[in-house]
Amino acid sequence: MAKLYDLEAYARCARRCAADGVVLLKNDGEALPLAAGTCVALFGRSQYNYYKSGTGSGGMVNTRSVAGVKEALEEDLRFTLEPGLSALYDAWIRDHPFDPGQGWAHEPWFQEEMPITAEIAAKAAQAADAAIVLIGRTAGEDQDNRDDKGSWRLTDAEEAMLAAVTGVFSRTVVLLNVGNIMDMSWVARYDPAAVAYIWQGGQEGGRGVVDVLSGDVDPAGRLPDTIAASVQDYPSASNFGSLTRNIQQEDIYVGYRYFETFAKEKVLYPFGFGLSYTDFAITPENMVRSDNAVELRISVTNTGARAGRQVVQAYLEAPQGLLGKPARTLAGFRKTRLLQPGASETVVITVPDIAMASYDDAGKTSFRSAWVMEAGDYVLYVGADVRDAREAGRFTLPETRCIRQLEEALAPAVSFARMVPARDGKGDFTPAYETAPLASLSPQELRRQALPEEIPQTGDRGIVLRDVAEGRASLRDFIAQLTDEDLACLVRGEGMGSPKVTPGCGGAFGGVTDRLLGFGIPIGCCSDGPSGIRMDSGRTAFALPIGTCLASTWDEELLQELFAWEGLELRKNRIDVLLGPGMNLHRHPLNGRNFEYFSEDPLLSGRCAAAELRGMYSRGVTGTIKHFAMNTQEAGRHTVEHVASERAVRELYLRGFEIAVREGGATAVMTTYGPVNGFYTSSNYDLVTRVLRGEWGFDGIVMTDWWARGNDEGCPGDRGNMAAMIRAQNDLYMVASSSADNSNADNSLASLTAGTVTRAEYQRSAANICRFLMRMPVFARFTGVGDELDRALASEPDEEDLVFAEMIDCRLNKNGCGAVDVSAVDTTRGKTSMVSVAIHDRGIYRLRFVLRAKQGLGSLAQIPLSVHVNRELAGQITLTGADTDWRAVELTLPPVFATFFLRLYFAQAGLEIRELTIEMVQSLEAEIRRISAGVHDADPSLPAD
Ligand code: BGC
Repeated sequence: MAKLYDLEAYARCARRCAADGVVLLKNDGEALPLAAGTCVALFGRSQYNYYKSGTGSGGMVNTRSVAGVKEALEEDLRFTLEPGLSALYDAWIRDHPFDPGQGWAHEPWFQEEMPITAEIAAKAAQAADAAIVLIGRTAGEDQDNRDDKGSWRLTDAEEAMLAAVTGVFSRTVVLLNVGNIMDMSWVARYDPAAVAYIWQGGQEGGRGVVDVLSGDVDPAGRLPDTIAASVQDYPSASNFGSLTRNIQQEDIYVGYRYFETFAKEKVLYPFGFGLSYTDFAITPENMVRSDNAVELRISVTNTGARAGRQVVQAYLEAPQGLLGKPARTLAGFRKTRLLQPGASETVVITVPDIAMASYDDAGKTSFRSAWVMEAGDYVLYVGADVRDAREAGRFTLPETRCIRQLEEALAPAVSFARMVPARDGKGDFTPAYETAPLASLSPQELRRQALPEEIPQTGDRGIVLRDVAEGRASLRDFIAQLTDEDLACLVRGEGMGSPKVTPGCGGAFGGVTDRLLGFGIPIGCCSDGPSGIRMDSGRTAFALPIGTCLASTWDEELLQELFAWEGLELRKNRIDVLLGPGMNLHRHPLNGRNFEYFSEDPLLSGRCAAAELRGMYSRGVTGTIKHFAMNTQEAGRHTVEHVASERAVRELYLRGFEIAVREGGATAVMTTYGPVNGFYTSSNYDLVTRVLRGEWGFDGIVMTDWWARGNDEGCPGDRGNMAAMIRAQNDLYMVASSSADNSNADNSLASLTAGTVTRAEYQRSAANICRFLMRMPVFARFTGVGDELDRALASEPDEEDLVFAEMIDCRLNKNGCGAVDVSAVDTTRGKTSMVSVAIHDRGIYRLRFVLRAKQGLGSLAQIPLSVHVNRELAGQITLTGADTDWRAVELTLPPVFATFFLRLYFAQAGLEIRELTIEMVQSLEAEIRRISAGVHDADPSLPAD
C-alpha cells in the first residue's frame, strides 16, 4: 500500500519549489543551461555551508540532511567539479570551519572566504568549462542586515574572487544563496555571464538549483521585490532601524509603488522580473468590464526553443484623483502551465473593484473611511514584470464610487508628514508631503459600546466539550461552567517545550490545567514555522524553502501542494498549528526576517499565505498568520512603535492578511511585538476586534508573540497586562511556564476584580479557544472520534533518524554519584552529545546542570537544551538571553535499570554548561528484590532457589 507520509514525494515537491523560486537576472550568450559533460569550477565557501534558511525561530528546523549546490552537482553525473580547485577548498575549509558565532541573533551574516588569486582562477579555468560562484548570507530574528560589507554589500574577499574569476572565465555564473535581496552594483563591475537569486531553498535547495542549471527546469522565478541601485534609494531608509518610532513617511509608496511612481531610474531589476531560457509573447486578447470587476483574457505563447512557464502579471494604473495613486499596483497574476515551444495558453485574470479602490482616510473624496474608486480612467497593463507590462485595456468611471464604507480604525495618534505624488514642471511625479489624518475615535469608547454580554456562571454541570461538538449542549452553557480562575488559566498558553504536547514545540494551549482538561478541553500544540517544523527536542523535520523563495515561484497551486505535505508532517507529529506563514511586508531590504516573509507586495503575500493555509487545511491542521501587523524591522522589535496612516495600514499591511483570512480561511493569527499607532498589537482593539473580526468575519484564535507585551492607552507595554489583551480579544498569551501557577504574574484576576476587564470578555476568548480546538485534530484524538488519519499515520514506520555523536563516559560511584566531563559536551547549534552512564544500582537518578546563557544574546533569545534518556525525552530546559547568571537546574529521570545513555541536544548555540552531576535519588534494588521474591513465591512452577 502506498505510504501516506511519503518523504520522497515530499522532497520532490520541495525540490520543485526550490527550482521554481530561482530568479535568473542575467544570462548572456546563453551561459545557462549547462550542457551535459560540463566541468564546473565551483567557487565560494558557501558550497560547504549552503544556507537552507535564515536564523532565529524560523530557521531552527533540525533536518535529516541538506543538499546544497555542491552536493547536488556531485550527485548529478552529467557534471564534474574541477578537482584541483575542489581539493584546494577541501584543504582550506578544514582550517576554516563554519563559524556559528554566539548563536541566536549572533551568527555572522557571512563566512570567511578562501582568497582566490588570479593564479588559482587561471588554473581552474584551464581545466573547467564554466565557473559557478556562490555568495552566501544569513540574517534573521533580532538581527537585521546592515548596509555593510558582508551583509548588503560584498566583502573585499568576495569582490576579489569575482574579479579573479570573471577575469579568466568567459562563463561565470553567480548564484546568491541569500534570504534578502542585496547590493547588485558589482554586476556592472565584473559583468559575469549569468546571475541568479537561488535564495535559501531548504533541505532540497541545492537539487532544485541544479535542476535549473542543467535546464531540466526552466527558470520561472520572478522577483517579489524591487532591486534598486542603493539601499538608500528605498523610501523607508530614513526611518528604518529607529529604536523608538518607525514612522512610515513613505505612506503607501513601498517598493515598486514608490519606484515606478517617483524613481524609475533608480531600479536595477524591477518588481516581477526574471528571465527564462525561452521567450514568451504575452498578448492581451480582450478586457471585459462588468458591474464590479474587470476580466482580462491574455494569451501567452512560447516563442522560443525550450519548454517553459511564464508568470503573467496584471497591473493597474488608477486615476490620480484627489487621493493620489501609485503609477502601478499589482492587480492579479497567473502562472501558465508548462508550454512547449510554439504552444499557447489563454489565462484569465479577474480584478474586482475592491482591488482597484483606494482607502480615503481623510475624506478628500467626501467618502471618509471608505474604499473608493475615484472618477477617471483606469488602465490595466499586462506583461512579464512591472516595467514590461503594456496596456491591455482601459475603462472610464464617470463619477467617484464608494465601494465599501467602513469606520475609521488604526489611525495614528501622532502627527507626521506622509508622501503624496505631485507633478513637477515636466509633468513627472515627484514626492510631496501632507499631514496624515489623526485618529478621531477612541478605541476604548468603542469597546465600551460593544461589550459582550456576560454568561451567568453556573458551576460544573457535567458538560464536556464533546457534548458541544456533538450538539448535546451549547458552547454558552459549557462556558458558563468555568470559574474566573478557569478562565484566567485558559487564556495562558504554556511553553516553550511544554511536556504536555509534542516534545520541543513552541507552545501548548487549551486544557493546560487539570480542571480544564476535566472539562474535556484538549491541549493544542503549536510549533514554529514557517520554513518547516521546529522541534527543539532534536527530532528531525523537513526543512522547506524560505518564504521569499516560495513567493518567487508565483505559483499558488505549488505552494498549496507543498503545504499539504507540511500539513501531513504536522499531523504525524501531533502538532495542530504551525506558527507561520510569516507575512510582514518587505518594506525595507535590510529587515532581518524578510526571508520568512514573502514580498514587498500585499497581493502576492496574501495569495501565497492563502495557498499555504489551504494546503495545511487539506490535512486538517492550520497555520498562524504572523506577525499581525506591521513589524518591518528587527531592531528593537519588542517596543518600537510603528506609526503609519490608516491608508497605508489598510492598503498595504492589512491587505495581505485580509486575503489570508477571506480567501485562505485563516483561523489562527499571531499579533506582533511592538505597538502600532499607540497600542501594542496584542492589546489593539481596532486591529484584533474591529478589523480582523468585525470587518473580515474572522472567528478563530488570536495569540501573542512569545512573551509579548500589552498596554493601556498612553502606558508602556507590560508582559503581565493580560486584561488589555483580553479586552482587545487577543485570546491567548504565549507563553507562561505554568498556567495554573500564573507563573507570568499576569493581572487577570486582579483586573476582573477591579473591573478593568469584564468576565464576558474572558468568556468570549474562552469560547474562541474552545471553538478553535473543536476543529483541530487534537480534538479527534482526545475524543477518539474521527482520528483515522492520525491512526493511519501512527501505523507507518517512523523514519526519524537520531543523530548520534561520540560517547562521553561517566561512571557513577557506589553511592550513585558522578560528574560528566562537560568540557567534552559540544554546545554548538544542532549538535548532540551522548553520555554513557554506568550505574551500580537500578534506581531513580537526578541530573543537576549548572548553566547559563552567554552574554549579549538579547533578552528574548531562546536557547533550548533537550535531554533524552535512551530514546525518550526526559525534559527540556529553555534559557532565555536574560539568564546570564549561573543557575542550577535539576531534572529527575525516569527509573533506569542498566547503563543508560543521556542524549543532550542543542537546538541553538549560546548555552554554557559549567557542571553536570548525576546522583541517585532512590535505589530500586530492594524493591526489585522484594517484587521478584513475591513473583517467585507466587509461581509454584518455578524451581526453588
Ligand atoms: C517569534 C515568533 C515565533 C515565536 C516562537 C518569537 O520570537 O517572533 O515568530 O513564532 O518566537 O518561537
